[in-house]
Amino acid sequence: MKAERTMLKIGCVLVGLFLLSQAPATQVSSDSLQPVATMKQLMLDIIYPASNSILLVVNRRGPSDDKDWAEVRRSAMTLAESANLLIMRNRTPAWIADARMLTDVGTAAYKAAEGRNVAALAALTGQLDGSCTTCHKQFRPAVFPPRR
Ligand code: HEC
Repeated sequence: MKAERTMLKIGCVLVGLFLLSQAPATQVSSDSLQPVATMKQLMLDIIYPASNSILLVVNRRGPSDDKDWAEVRRSAMTLAESANLLIMRNRTPAWIADARMLTDVGTAAYKAAEGRNVAALAALTGQLDGSCTTCHKQFRPAVFPPRR
């Protein structure tokens, strides 16, 4: 009888320790994602300027010096990672697939910039544009009304 009680107490302590060890982990994961920007702010203040800066460098003068390449690298990484910000706000498969197009083109542009490959970078402008319009056609019906 005494041994049984002791076992029960030990059991309770173990369960308690297990629960304690789980609690902080769940708290951290729910608190750690705190979206700040609205979708519109993400577009206007992060994604559009990044894509625009790449297109301007490519179309105006072509990247030629360290400063240009650094700008392309920075913007390319911004685009690639901003897809994760988009996915943070919407986990539906179609949205995720569209956002990943940004990751892909951003990653490719980053690699081109690292290798200072003007031709490879220039070849990505269509894909860059496509990554925006594919999602906008699906998720901005006010701008792209569904065809009748
Ligand atoms: C995964 C989806 C998605 C991708 C990818 C995406 N957008 Fe958007 N974009 C949206 C949505 C949704 C809105 C509408 C936001 C709102 O008004 O709340 C929007 C709105 C915009 C706006 C208008 C903001 C305003 O004034 O209302 C601009 C500019 C914009 N996007 C630029 C871009 C550019 C440039 C790219 C590509 C480099 C891009 N977006 C990629 C979903 C996307």
